[in-house]
Amino acid sequence: MTPLRLLFHSNADSKDDWRRRLAALDPTIELRVWPEAGEPAEIDAALVWKPPAGMLATFPNLKLVLSLGMGVDHIFADPELPQGVPIARLVDRDLINRMSEYCALAVLRYHRNADTYDAHQRQRKWKALPGEPAGKDRRVGILGLGEIGRDLASKLAPFGFALAGWSRTAKRVPGVESFYGAAGLAPFLARSEILVCLLPLTRETRGILDARAFAALPKGAVVVNAARGGHVVDADLLAALDSGHLAAAQLDVFNQEPLPPEHPFWTHPKVRVTPHNAGITDPNSAAHQIVENLRRLRRGEALLNIVDPARGY
Ligand code: NDP
Ligand code: OXD
Repeated sequence: MTPLRLLFHSNADSKDDWRRRLAALDPTIELRVWPEAGEPAEIDAALVWKPPAGMLATFPNLKLVLSLGMGVDHIFADPELPQGVPIARLVDRDLINRMSEYCALAVLRYHRNADTYDAHQRQRKWKALPGEPAGKDRRVGILGLGEIGRDLASKLAPFGFALAGWSRTAKRVPGVESFYGAAGLAPFLARSEILVCLLPLTRETRGILDARAFAALPKGAVVVNAARGGHVVDADLLAALDSGHLAAAQLDVFNQEPLPPEHPFWTHPKVRVTPHNAGITDPNSAAHQIVENLRRLRRGEALLNIVDPARGY
Protein backbone atom coordinates (compact mmCIF):
# COMPACT_ATOMS: atom_id res chain seq x y z
CA MET A 1 0.00 0.00 0.00
CA THR A 2 1.29 3.54 -0.73
CA PRO A 3 2.51 5.24 2.43
CA LEU A 4 0.38 7.90 4.06
CA ARG A 5 2.54 10.85 5.04
CA LEU A 6 1.48 12.23 8.42
CA LEU A 7 2.97 15.48 9.65
CA PHE A 8 3.43 15.61 13.44
CA HIS A 9 3.74 18.71 15.60
CA SER A 10 3.58 18.92 19.38
CA ASN A 11 5.26 20.95 22.08
CA ALA A 12 5.28 17.85 24.30
CA ASP A 13 8.07 15.36 23.85
CA SER A 14 5.81 12.59 22.61
CA LYS A 15 6.97 12.06 19.02
CA ASP A 16 8.85 8.81 19.71
CA ASP A 17 5.88 7.28 21.55
CA TRP A 18 3.57 8.28 18.72
CA ARG A 19 5.96 6.96 16.09
CA ARG A 20 6.22 3.60 17.87
CA ARG A 21 2.50 3.26 18.47
CA LEU A 22 1.40 4.31 14.97
CA ALA A 23 3.99 2.06 13.33
CA ALA A 24 2.74 -0.88 15.41
CA LEU A 25 -0.84 -0.28 14.30
CA ASP A 26 -0.21 0.67 10.66
CA PRO A 27 3.32 0.45 9.23
CA THR A 28 2.23 2.31 6.09
CA ILE A 29 1.87 5.57 8.05
CA GLU A 30 5.03 7.60 7.59
CA LEU A 31 5.45 10.10 10.41
CA ARG A 32 7.30 13.29 9.55
CA VAL A 33 8.06 15.50 12.52
CA TRP A 34 7.89 19.26 12.00
CA PRO A 35 10.04 21.06 10.88
CA GLU A 36 11.52 18.07 9.01
CA ALA A 37 8.45 17.60 6.83
CA GLY A 38 10.25 16.81 3.56
CA GLU A 39 8.46 17.76 0.34
CA PRO A 40 5.34 19.73 1.47
CA ALA A 41 3.18 18.40 -1.39
CA GLU A 42 3.62 14.85 -0.07
CA ILE A 43 1.92 15.49 3.28
CA ASP A 44 -1.57 13.92 3.39
CA ALA A 45 -2.63 14.66 6.96
CA ALA A 46 -1.37 16.39 10.11
CA LEU A 47 -1.50 15.29 13.75
CA VAL A 48 -0.97 18.41 15.81
CA TRP A 49 -1.03 20.24 19.12
CA LYS A 50 -0.77 24.04 18.95
CA PRO A 51 0.46 24.22 15.34
CA PRO A 52 2.50 27.40 14.70
CA ALA A 53 0.51 30.02 12.79
CA GLY A 54 0.80 29.40 9.06
CA MET A 55 2.37 25.94 9.37
CA LEU A 56 -0.62 23.95 8.10
CA ALA A 57 -1.09 26.32 5.15
CA THR A 58 2.29 25.25 3.76
CA PHE A 59 0.98 21.77 2.84
CA PRO A 60 -0.99 22.08 -0.42
CA ASN A 61 -2.39 18.52 -0.38
CA LEU A 62 -3.46 18.37 3.26
CA LYS A 63 -6.69 16.37 3.50
CA LEU A 64 -7.22 16.05 7.26
CA VAL A 65 -6.06 17.77 10.45
CA LEU A 66 -6.12 15.58 13.57
CA SER A 67 -5.98 17.16 17.02
CA LEU A 68 -3.70 15.57 19.60
CA GLY A 69 -6.25 16.64 22.20
CA MET A 70 -9.99 16.73 22.73
CA GLY A 71 -10.02 20.50 22.29
CA VAL A 72 -9.47 22.10 18.88
CA ASP A 73 -9.18 25.79 19.83
CA HIS A 74 -5.39 25.44 19.44
CA ILE A 75 -5.99 24.67 15.73
CA PHE A 76 -8.65 27.31 15.09
CA ALA A 77 -6.27 29.86 16.64
CA ASP A 78 -4.18 29.69 13.43
CA PRO A 79 -5.17 32.77 11.37
CA GLU A 80 -3.94 31.04 8.20
CA LEU A 81 -5.74 27.74 8.82
CA PRO A 82 -6.47 26.20 5.40
CA GLN A 83 -10.19 26.46 4.73
CA GLY A 84 -12.20 23.38 3.86
CA VAL A 85 -9.78 20.81 5.34
CA PRO A 86 -11.71 18.73 7.89
CA ILE A 87 -10.55 18.83 11.51
CA ALA A 88 -11.01 15.81 13.75
CA ARG A 89 -10.66 15.93 17.51
CA LEU A 90 -9.80 13.10 19.87
CA VAL A 91 -12.60 11.53 21.83
CA ASP A 92 -10.57 9.22 23.99
CA ARG A 93 -11.81 7.10 26.88
CA ASP A 94 -8.52 7.28 28.77
CA LEU A 95 -8.36 11.07 28.47
CA ILE A 96 -11.99 11.42 29.54
CA ASN A 97 -11.32 9.25 32.61
CA ARG A 98 -8.30 11.36 33.56
CA MET A 99 -10.34 14.56 33.24
CA SER A 100 -13.10 13.16 35.41
CA GLU A 101 -10.56 12.04 38.03
CA TYR A 102 -9.12 15.55 38.18
CA CYS A 103 -12.48 17.27 38.45
CA ALA A 104 -13.97 14.75 40.89
CA LEU A 105 -10.93 15.13 43.15
CA ALA A 106 -11.40 18.91 43.14
CA VAL A 107 -15.13 18.64 43.85
CA LEU A 108 -14.57 16.20 46.72
CA ARG A 109 -11.72 18.27 48.18
CA TYR A 110 -13.85 21.40 48.33
CA HIS A 111 -16.99 19.57 49.37
CA ARG A 112 -15.11 18.07 52.35
CA ASN A 113 -13.24 21.32 53.22
CA ALA A 114 -9.90 19.59 52.72
CA ASP A 115 -7.93 22.86 52.62
CA THR A 116 -9.31 23.91 56.01
CA TYR A 117 -8.51 20.53 57.58
CA ASP A 118 -5.00 20.60 56.08
CA ALA A 119 -4.49 24.00 57.74
CA HIS A 120 -5.94 22.70 61.02
CA GLN A 121 -3.52 19.80 60.99
CA ARG A 122 -0.58 22.15 60.58
CA GLN A 123 -1.87 23.99 63.68
CA ARG A 124 -2.57 20.71 65.59
CA LYS A 125 -6.16 21.92 65.81
CA TRP A 126 -8.84 19.27 66.49
CA LYS A 127 -12.04 20.89 65.24
CA ALA A 128 -14.88 19.59 63.09
CA LEU A 129 -16.50 22.37 61.07
CA PRO A 130 -20.14 22.80 62.00
CA GLY A 131 -22.94 22.13 59.52
CA GLU A 132 -20.95 20.34 56.81
CA PRO A 133 -23.44 19.26 54.13
CA ALA A 134 -23.94 15.73 52.86
CA GLY A 135 -23.44 15.11 49.14
CA LYS A 136 -27.16 15.45 48.42
CA ASP A 137 -27.09 18.96 49.86
CA ARG A 138 -24.12 20.09 47.78
CA ARG A 139 -25.04 21.74 44.48
CA VAL A 140 -22.43 21.04 41.81
CA GLY A 141 -22.72 22.72 38.41
CA ILE A 142 -20.96 21.51 35.28
CA LEU A 143 -20.45 24.05 32.49
CA GLY A 144 -20.48 21.91 29.34
CA LEU A 145 -22.31 18.59 29.22
CA GLY A 146 -20.24 17.07 26.45
CA GLU A 147 -18.09 13.95 26.53
CA ILE A 148 -16.21 14.98 29.66
CA GLY A 149 -19.01 16.83 31.45
CA ARG A 150 -21.37 13.86 31.12
CA ASP A 151 -18.70 11.43 32.26
CA LEU A 152 -17.94 13.58 35.30
CA ALA A 153 -21.64 13.75 36.13
CA SER A 154 -21.88 9.94 35.98
CA LYS A 155 -18.94 9.65 38.37
CA LEU A 156 -20.22 12.25 40.84
CA ALA A 157 -23.79 10.93 40.82
CA PRO A 158 -23.13 7.96 43.17
CA PHE A 159 -22.12 10.45 45.91
CA GLY A 160 -25.61 11.89 45.66
CA PHE A 161 -24.55 15.44 44.72
CA ALA A 162 -27.28 17.75 43.45
CA LEU A 163 -25.99 17.98 39.88
CA ALA A 164 -26.80 20.44 37.12
CA GLY A 165 -25.24 21.09 33.74
CA TRP A 166 -25.24 23.95 31.26
CA SER A 167 -24.95 23.40 27.54
CA ARG A 168 -25.94 25.06 24.27
CA THR A 169 -28.83 22.67 23.70
CA ALA A 170 -31.15 20.96 26.21
CA LYS A 171 -29.88 17.66 27.59
CA ARG A 172 -31.41 14.60 29.17
CA VAL A 173 -28.76 13.19 31.47
CA PRO A 174 -30.10 11.03 34.31
CA GLY A 175 -29.77 12.79 37.66
CA VAL A 176 -28.56 16.06 36.11
CA GLU A 177 -30.76 19.15 35.92
CA SER A 178 -30.36 20.64 32.44
CA PHE A 179 -29.90 24.38 31.90
CA TYR A 180 -29.11 25.63 28.43
CA GLY A 181 -28.55 28.64 26.24
CA ALA A 182 -27.95 32.22 27.26
CA ALA A 183 -31.17 32.33 29.28
CA GLY A 184 -30.19 29.27 31.29
CA LEU A 185 -26.82 30.55 32.42
CA ALA A 186 -27.79 32.88 35.28
CA PRO A 187 -30.15 30.42 37.03
CA PHE A 188 -27.57 27.65 36.56
CA LEU A 189 -24.82 29.76 38.14
CA ALA A 190 -27.10 30.90 40.97
CA ARG A 191 -27.50 27.30 42.17
CA SER A 192 -23.89 26.15 41.66
CA GLU A 193 -21.83 26.03 44.87
CA ILE A 194 -19.04 24.15 43.13
CA LEU A 195 -18.71 25.14 39.48
CA VAL A 196 -16.67 22.98 37.10
CA CYS A 197 -15.88 24.42 33.67
CA LEU A 198 -15.64 21.84 30.89
CA LEU A 199 -16.60 24.00 27.92
CA PRO A 200 -14.72 24.19 24.63
CA LEU A 201 -13.08 27.56 24.02
CA THR A 202 -14.98 29.29 21.23
CA ARG A 203 -15.99 32.82 20.23
CA GLU A 204 -19.06 32.38 22.44
CA THR A 205 -17.37 30.97 25.52
CA ARG A 206 -14.19 33.07 25.68
CA GLY A 207 -14.22 35.13 28.87
CA ILE A 208 -17.43 33.50 30.10
CA LEU A 209 -16.03 33.28 33.63
CA ASP A 210 -16.01 37.03 34.27
CA ALA A 211 -17.13 39.38 37.02
CA ARG A 212 -20.78 38.94 36.03
CA ALA A 213 -20.61 35.16 36.18
CA PHE A 214 -18.77 35.18 39.50
CA ALA A 215 -21.32 37.60 40.98
CA ALA A 216 -24.09 35.22 39.87
CA LEU A 217 -22.58 32.33 41.85
CA PRO A 218 -23.65 31.94 45.48
CA LYS A 219 -21.36 33.51 48.10
CA GLY A 220 -18.66 31.03 49.10
CA ALA A 221 -18.74 29.22 45.75
CA VAL A 222 -15.70 27.45 44.34
CA VAL A 223 -14.59 27.47 40.68
CA VAL A 224 -12.77 24.58 39.04
CA ASN A 225 -11.47 25.26 35.52
CA ALA A 226 -10.11 22.27 33.63
CA ALA A 227 -11.19 23.52 30.19
CA ARG A 228 -9.20 26.46 28.85
CA GLY A 229 -7.58 29.51 30.43
CA GLY A 230 -9.35 31.73 27.90
CA HIS A 231 -12.65 31.05 29.66
CA VAL A 232 -11.47 33.04 32.68
CA VAL A 233 -10.95 36.77 33.04
CA ASP A 234 -8.04 36.51 35.46
CA ALA A 235 -8.46 39.95 37.05
CA ASP A 236 -12.17 39.29 37.67
CA LEU A 237 -11.41 35.94 39.31
CA LEU A 238 -8.78 37.48 41.58
CA ALA A 239 -11.20 40.27 42.52
CA ALA A 240 -13.98 37.79 43.33
CA LEU A 241 -11.59 35.72 45.49
CA ASP A 242 -10.18 38.78 47.25
CA SER A 243 -13.60 40.22 48.00
CA GLY A 244 -14.52 36.96 49.73
CA HIS A 245 -17.37 36.26 47.31
CA LEU A 246 -15.59 33.15 45.99
CA ALA A 247 -13.98 30.76 48.46
CA ALA A 248 -11.44 29.11 46.16
CA ALA A 249 -10.40 28.23 42.62
CA GLN A 250 -8.66 25.21 41.19
CA LEU A 251 -7.10 25.97 37.82
CA ASP A 252 -5.44 23.60 35.37
CA VAL A 253 -5.43 25.90 32.35
CA PHE A 254 -4.38 29.51 31.89
CA ASN A 255 -4.54 32.43 29.50
CA GLN A 256 -0.78 32.16 29.24
CA GLU A 257 0.86 28.74 29.47
CA PRO A 258 3.20 28.00 31.13
CA LEU A 259 1.75 30.28 33.81
CA PRO A 260 4.37 33.07 34.14
CA PRO A 261 6.30 32.97 37.46
CA GLU A 262 5.07 36.46 38.40
CA HIS A 263 1.37 35.60 37.92
CA PRO A 264 -0.61 36.13 41.17
CA PHE A 265 -2.35 32.74 40.83
CA TRP A 266 0.89 30.99 41.86
CA THR A 267 0.87 32.43 45.35
CA HIS A 268 -2.77 33.25 45.97
CA PRO A 269 -3.88 31.47 49.16
CA LYS A 270 -7.23 30.53 47.61
CA VAL A 271 -5.91 29.23 44.30
CA ARG A 272 -4.66 25.77 43.42
CA VAL A 273 -2.60 25.55 40.23
CA THR A 274 -1.82 22.48 38.15
CA PRO A 275 0.22 22.56 34.90
CA HIS A 276 -2.45 21.73 32.28
CA ASN A 277 -2.21 18.05 33.09
CA ALA A 278 -5.81 17.31 34.09
CA GLY A 279 -6.02 15.10 31.03
CA ILE A 280 -3.00 14.12 29.04
CA THR A 281 -3.16 12.17 25.79
CA ASP A 282 -1.66 8.69 25.98
CA PRO A 283 -0.71 7.43 22.50
CA ASN A 284 -1.31 3.85 23.69
CA SER A 285 -4.98 4.70 24.02
CA ALA A 286 -5.45 7.43 21.42
CA ALA A 287 -3.50 6.06 18.45
CA HIS A 288 -6.24 3.57 17.50
CA GLN A 289 -8.59 6.43 16.69
CA ILE A 290 -5.97 8.26 14.65
CA VAL A 291 -5.20 5.14 12.64
CA GLU A 292 -8.89 4.43 12.10
CA ASN A 293 -9.48 7.97 10.83
CA LEU A 294 -6.52 7.72 8.45
CA ARG A 295 -7.86 4.37 7.21
CA ARG A 296 -11.22 6.04 6.55
CA LEU A 297 -9.51 8.96 4.82
CA ARG A 298 -7.75 6.58 2.44
CA ARG A 299 -10.97 4.78 1.62
CA GLY A 300 -13.07 7.91 1.33
CA GLU A 301 -15.30 6.80 4.24
CA ALA A 302 -16.99 9.08 6.79
CA LEU A 303 -14.42 10.46 9.24
CA LEU A 304 -14.75 10.25 13.03
CA ASN A 305 -15.17 13.19 15.42
CA ILE A 306 -15.10 15.95 12.84
CA VAL A 307 -15.68 19.35 14.43
CA ASP A 308 -17.86 22.12 13.10
CA PRO A 309 -15.74 25.16 12.16
CA ALA A 310 -18.75 27.47 12.47
CA ARG A 311 -19.35 26.41 16.11
CA GLY A 312 -15.66 26.05 16.90
CA TYR A 313 -16.03 22.64 18.56
P1 NDP B 1 -17.62 18.42 23.90
O1 NDP B 1 -17.47 19.09 22.59
O2 NDP B 1 -17.93 16.96 23.94
O3 NDP B 1 -18.75 19.15 24.75
C1 NDP B 1 -18.81 20.54 24.84
C2 NDP B 1 -20.02 20.93 25.69
O4 NDP B 1 -20.01 22.36 25.83
C3 NDP B 1 -21.34 20.55 25.05
O5 NDP B 1 -22.26 20.14 26.02
C4 NDP B 1 -21.80 21.87 24.41
O6 NDP B 1 -23.21 22.02 24.30
C5 NDP B 1 -21.28 22.87 25.42
N1 NDP B 1 -21.12 24.18 24.81
C6 NDP B 1 -20.30 24.56 23.80
N2 NDP B 1 -20.51 25.85 23.48
C7 NDP B 1 -21.47 26.30 24.31
C8 NDP B 1 -22.12 27.55 24.47
N3 NDP B 1 -21.82 28.61 23.69
N4 NDP B 1 -23.07 27.66 25.42
C9 NDP B 1 -23.39 26.60 26.19
N5 NDP B 1 -22.81 25.38 26.10
C10 NDP B 1 -21.86 25.25 25.16
O7 NDP B 1 -16.29 18.74 24.72
P2 NDP B 1 -15.46 17.77 25.68
O8 NDP B 1 -16.31 17.41 26.84
O9 NDP B 1 -14.85 16.68 24.89
O10 NDP B 1 -14.24 18.72 26.12
C11 NDP B 1 -14.45 19.99 26.69
C12 NDP B 1 -13.15 20.76 26.72
O11 NDP B 1 -12.28 20.26 27.74
C13 NDP B 1 -12.28 20.67 25.47
O12 NDP B 1 -12.76 21.51 24.44
C14 NDP B 1 -10.92 21.13 25.99
O13 NDP B 1 -10.79 22.52 25.85
C15 NDP B 1 -10.98 20.76 27.48
N6 NDP B 1 -9.98 19.73 27.82
C16 NDP B 1 -9.01 20.04 28.72
C17 NDP B 1 -8.05 19.11 29.08
C18 NDP B 1 -7.04 19.41 30.13
O14 NDP B 1 -6.05 18.68 30.24
N7 NDP B 1 -7.21 20.42 30.94
C19 NDP B 1 -8.04 17.76 28.47
C20 NDP B 1 -9.15 17.53 27.57
C21 NDP B 1 -10.07 18.49 27.25
P3 NDP B 1 -24.06 21.12 23.26
O15 NDP B 1 -23.89 19.70 23.73
O16 NDP B 1 -25.45 21.59 23.42
O17 NDP B 1 -23.46 21.34 21.92
C1 OXD C 1 -7.05 18.55 25.32
C2 OXD C 1 -6.07 19.01 26.32
O1 OXD C 1 -7.76 19.36 24.73
O2 OXD C 1 -5.23 18.18 26.75
O3 OXD C 1 -7.12 17.32 25.11
O4 OXD C 1 -6.11 20.15 26.74
